Amino acid sequence: MSEPLPLPVSAPWIVLKFGGTSVSTTARWKTIRDLAAARRAEGARVLVVVSALSGMTDTLKGVCAELDVTQRLAVWARIESRHAALAAALGLAPEAAWRTQLQSLHALLTQAASAQGALPWQAAVMAHGELLSSALGADFLGAHWLDARGVLHAHAQPNQSERVQRLSATLETAPDAAVAAALAQRGEVLITQGFIARDAAGATVLLGRGGSDTSAAHFGALLRAARVEIWTDVAGMFSANPRQVADARLLRQLDYEEAQEIATTGAKVLHPRCLAPLRAPRVPLWIKDTERPALDGTVIGAEAVSASPSVKALSMRKGITLVAMESIGMWQQVGFLADVFAQFKRHGLSVDLIGSAETNVTVSLDSTENLLDSDALAALAADLARVCRVKVIAPCAAITLVGRGMRSMLHRLEGLLAELGSQRVHLISQSSNNLNLTFVVDEAVADALLPRLHALLLHSGALRADDVALFGPSWQALYAPAPAAQPAPWWRGARARLLDAAARATPRYIYHLPTVRARARALRALGAVDRWHYALKANPHPALLSALDAEGFGLECVAPGELDAARAAAPRAPRLFTPNFAPRADYAAALDAGELVTLDALHPLQQWGALFAAREIGLRVDLGSGVGHHEKVRTGGSASKFGLPLTDLAEFLALARRIGARVVLLHAHLGSGVLDATHWPGVYAQLASLGERIGTLRALNIGGGLGLPQRAGEQPLDLAALDAGLGEIKRAYPQFELWMEPGRFLVAEAGVLLARVTQLKSKDARAYLGVDAGMHTLLRPALYGARHGIVNLTRLGAPADALYQIVGPICESGDVLGNDRRMPVAQEGDVVLIEHAGAYGAAMASNYNLRGLPVEEVFE
Ligand code: LLP
Repeated sequence: MSEPLPLPVSAPWIVLKFGGTSVSTTARWKTIRDLAAARRAEGARVLVVVSALSGMTDTLKGVCAELDVTQRLAVWARIESRHAALAAALGLAPEAAWRTQLQSLHALLTQAASAQGALPWQAAVMAHGELLSSALGADFLGAHWLDARGVLHAHAQPNQSERVQRLSATLETAPDAAVAAALAQRGEVLITQGFIARDAAGATVLLGRGGSDTSAAHFGALLRAARVEIWTDVAGMFSANPRQVADARLLRQLDYEEAQEIATTGAKVLHPRCLAPLRAPRVPLWIKDTERPALDGTVIGAEAVSASPSVKALSMRKGITLVAMESIGMWQQVGFLADVFAQFKRHGLSVDLIGSAETNVTVSLDSTENLLDSDALAALAADLARVCRVKVIAPCAAITLVGRGMRSMLHRLEGLLAELGSQRVHLISQSSNNLNLTFVVDEAVADALLPRLHALLLHSGALRADDVALFGPSWQALYAPAPAAQPAPWWRGARARLLDAAARATPRYIYHLPTVRARARALRALGAVDRWHYALKANPHPALLSALDAEGFGLECVAPGELDAARAAAPRAPRLFTPNFAPRADYAAALDAGELVTLDALHPLQQWGALFAAREIGLRVDLGSGVGHHEKVRTGGSASKFGLPLTDLAEFLALARRIGARVVLLHAHLGSGVLDATHWPGVYAQLASLGERIGTLRALNIGGGLGLPQRAGEQPLDLAALDAGLGEIKRAYPQFELWMEPGRFLVAEAGVLLARVTQLKSKDARAYLGVDAGMHTLLRPALYGARHGIVNLTRLGAPADALYQIVGPICESGDVLGNDRRMPVAQEGDVVLIEHAGAYGAAMASNYNLRGLPVEEVFE
């Protein structure tokens, strides 16, 4: 391989920073060598900044506390052997330069700490972690070894204690072309230490927690680098802590302020201190995964592409203490705030969030910034008590939404606010830079709350995960074991036929019967369920009803029209009739026709008792809480109109007995779009235990609601787990038959909606793609914020160069089928395909604006 040509002095710099785990193994050092070579091949000079080997800083810190020299030297011997083992693995000569660093550490450890004063000695000892790792690396990479202390200078700040000056020093760095030119003379690939610098007197100082990132940032600023790359053990910043929220999305692009806000409010991947130096010289910062360098990471820069504002992240900090101060008879007294804050200053406590009222001010103290202990708090409270009444609320957690333009997203936070509404929220604070909104809650509830709030942000579109320029895959998709690959949807193999059909008329629903049959068979294979019914409200097309009848499904109906459709298409299929708030006549007609009728209120028995005399009936109960993909499809709990409350059960049974009606079926359906396989066994167990109190019961119907993933990262319902869970309950209650009645699961994927592009328009920063289907054709996006996949079938596979809002022709702003979809640039007449439209699509269509109903067609 030929050597690359020497670089001109003006060649740009790239700073690469590697943390402890990235410098501890041979494999990682090979990655470092490859990355440095690749940057050099781009025509850049490379400065590699390294941390100490993992765990080494803690080891050195420990040794500083050790008074006994023999003990210290025992630790030194372990440090020696760890570095020697790595050097040998890297194939380095035994007497390489890193040995010199080891000797200087040995000399320091044999000194009494007091020789230099404890803190300077401690800083000098601890600096050896980075001095050693960088010396090893210089040898392995063949790079020039640079002593960071010759370049980075710390500046003492007013009021800074000596401890902070020595162990968590502050740097002030501006681009310096002379330094850059001088370093360029030293070589093309340099390696230096993170975490260390020197003070005005030339002594070694440390940069505190996150110090290596800080060093890299300061080098980047000083050299006005083309970029700083932080190589770590995760692909970048995520929309929430991935350890708590597996569905958190990779943030591909952030501007400095947003990234700063996320780092400050809880994300651990980047230290908040390392962005400030890069901001003024506009040096971009990349975060990348050392183990998987090919993954896209996070790019932080001056401007992030953004079509519309989005919540970028949900961060959380624990260990928050709130101090609530009530003024005593000093209403609107001038200087009250000044008096109060003077006490915080006096006790050296910095205040973070503030909420104020006429007679109260509440502030938060962040334990990461303040060295909070109960003595410090008690002393503060005692002093404050002279000017106000004080209440300390702790431990709390601050949950923060971060995103530029937060105030313009409030309308999308409805679900999140409802969820928080069920908690004790102690303080709400909105940052004056419009970048964050913070809620302070009890620490104990925060962990459980975080994934729920993140899901609500995704669901409401407040976090615009569909915009793939801003958001990458979920953590789960990147790092969790890959789920079994999903088969390609049926319509991919039917493109030509679909385009032909669309040429006849649009908007047009197409139903693929083989897919309906396949779903039916997957359910029939669950051994625990004795009888399946299809909830035909999802899609009453006659071809689907007869196909499901042929697969052995009964039919669940909720209105006389549905009963008629069921009788016409599948006369022999068993039927259930489960209306809700229906008029008397509906029950009378169904009973006359011999249908099995299920009641969910006392009213029919109380008022129309004669109808039910000597009949077998079903009873639908409300088990107290609902589930489902949206608030509007949860059919249990006090906010829902469905089901008999359990408090009325005894009265219902007594009435039935008096009338002579036999309750043979107990039913519950608590919601729709459920992906958690444990839901139904839970319902089953509750119904079974209630059922034991009803002597006449034959069957338990645990409803439908089986969901399908709507969004990237959602896992499909685990049918095997469902069957196993149901089987367990069944063994305990063999006396009851088990029935289920899904709708969506059987027909959603089998249906697509074809629409034709009508018009294109750009308005402000948004591009609209108009199609001839709208909320009158498919209401689900408008009604539930449901997400349907949308593709341009005409241009299938073309590069997705546009970001569209896909809208219909109806005179309502809610007439939107999809937001922020990356798709090929479209033209009038293109055919657009909308996925998962087989359930609650045509069934909920209307003639609104007198635009007519969609056409429906069946593919065999
Ligand atoms: N059983 C009863 C008593 C029901 O009320 C329903 C649906 C089902 C079964 C079937 O639920 P599925 O398996 O399809 O989730 N329009 C909404 C769904 C409303 C569901 C109403 N009841 C949507 O498009 O998501």
